[in-house]
Amino acid sequence: DRSLKIAPSILSADFANFGAEIRAIEAQGADWVHVDVMDGHFVPNLTFGPPAVKAFRPHVKTVMDVHLMISPVDAYIDAYADAGADILTAHIEAGPHIHRTLQAIRAAGMKAGVALNPGTPAEAVADLLDMADLICVMTVNPGFGGQKFIDMTAKVAKLRAMIGDRAVHIEIDGGVDPVTAPLVRAAGADVLVAGSAVFKGGSVDKPEVYGANMQAI
Ligand code: DX5
Ligand code: ZN
Repeated sequence: DRSLKIAPSILSADFANFGAEIRAIEAQGADWVHVDVMDGHFVPNLTFGPPAVKAFRPHVKTVMDVHLMISPVDAYIDAYADAGADILTAHIEAGPHIHRTLQAIRAAGMKAGVALNPGTPAEAVADLLDMADLICVMTVNPGFGGQKFIDMTAKVAKLRAMIGDRAVHIEIDGGVDPVTAPLVRAAGADVLVAGSAVFKGGSVDKPEVYGANMQAI
């Protein structure tokens, strides 16, 4: 299914109100909910671990899309399966054995995603296309919300051609807004993560702002 899917990143939500924030973005039309896990080691920031993700689960009625910005990954895969992740994405840069990691994610019953930092070329996933359900193209250097979009449209177009008729999503993460979204969409992306562009100006008391922000993307 290559229809457009908007995946708000709750990294930009009110951290004291995750349940209500998740319900609000879904009521306003979010297709997936994107959860950014950071370890203060692979990226210079810390967010949430498996117990927090498990607490989000009952509030997510759509798809819980968990993006691991952690290294190493393999020892935590079962914990995120238990926490209820539908899609678990690991970075190709996070260790020497991404193939093993993707196998383990699928074996644990989740869809497997592989993320590429801006400096990693499309060719790096050439031998993984049958192992992955999603390729996440980072359009910022991961670690923080609200950064400036880095143009990766050529990489996205290359990946779309490499994927051919396989059922592999191309997700864009970082700096997605009403200006940049059409560029990556035209290049072949189908899932757009957006943090600051969705939550900007809204709140759980003004959820219609989230809806309008998503419509604008
Ligand atoms: C970046 C995260 C992103 C981020 C997106 O490290 O993986 O998901 O929260 O935020 P915006 O849309 O604000 O760039
Ligand atoms: Zn992310």
